[in-house]
Amino acid sequence: MAGGKKRWTIGEAETTPEKLFFSRRALLGLRGGAAPGLTVAGLGLDRIASTQAEEPAAPLPAASPNGRFRAAGPMTAAEDFTSYNNFYEFGFSKDIVRAAQRLKTSPWRIVVDGACDHPFEIDVDDLLEKVALEERIYRQRCVEAWSMVIPWTGFQLAELVKMASPKAEAKYLRMETFHDPKVAPMQSAPQYPWPYVEGLTLAEATNELAFLAVGAYGKSLAKQNGAPLRLVTPWKYGFKSAKSLTRFTFTAKRPVTFWQELGPREYGFWANVNPGVAHPRWTQAYERRIGDDERVPTRLFNGYAEEVAGLYTGLESEKLYM
Ligand code: MTE
Repeated sequence: MAGGKKRWTIGEAETTPEKLFFSRRALLGLRGGAAPGLTVAGLGLDRIASTQAEEPAAPLPAASPNGRFRAAGPMTAAEDFTSYNNFYEFGFSKDIVRAAQRLKTSPWRIVVDGACDHPFEIDVDDLLEKVALEERIYRQRCVEAWSMVIPWTGFQLAELVKMASPKAEAKYLRMETFHDPKVAPMQSAPQYPWPYVEGLTLAEATNELAFLAVGAYGKSLAKQNGAPLRLVTPWKYGFKSAKSLTRFTFTAKRPVTFWQELGPREYGFWANVNPGVAHPRWTQAYERRIGDDERVPTRLFNGYAEEVAGLYTGLESEKLYM
């Protein structure tokens, strides 16, 4: 929000989500001991923050709204979506907008490889000419128990999967964020398993909800939101929706994700939203809506059970909700 402080910034110290956030930050700090050198000043982030201005978003090709995906509830204000972020490569606070402006998002190469018949490498602009862009309004539920409703522009991940034509042995799609410690200061800290890695089963990746976003609110994605290309899996906790992707790899082996490697007792591979399964250190029964600060009940699969519950039959012995 231009000018004054956000309401949740003022009240943050007293609210549960702030405590949750610091719990998570504690996890980041705990790995490998006291995380020496991981202060903002130690990594020069304070300097970056004062010198980088936010760039205007590039124009986005036209995309028609897909009426089948229109989450109910108040839409989050664009300025909240672009200023309250998790992008740990650029810092451990929600305020990483300026630091993220160092990321150069054009040109941007994407590699699609692994167990597929048609591996390829492509610039994101060329990729956009091969896919049908559409707008979908999805809920986003962060594991920290805050939520947003966001109009994304992008295309189904299934389209990219189809282009690569995965082999029969490909059971998973591993996705990787850029890795450039010169640009992203937190990637200089060796105790973290950079680059940020996420993964889906092939069945999840080809589910119609799985989306690759290149824009939001009718504009190209802002850098802090994961430009130029990010995953959006609205039935899973937000950390699955990896930002600024550079590599997609088909594999027979289940990938170990960034958060799993960092905190295996707290974060798993599946990360499906479930209000009945608490995080080991906090409840997931409710969420705080960013914008009006309303505390609302969380829904199974974040309200997308109809579309995705069938993906998990026969997997009941797995830790599907962490
Ligand atoms: N992707 C990368 N590469 N690095 C991150 O730190 N944070 C995740 C996810 N994707 C993250 C990431 C988390 S925890 C959330 S809740 C969402 O991005 C937040 O997306 P937003 O800031 O665009 O709302």
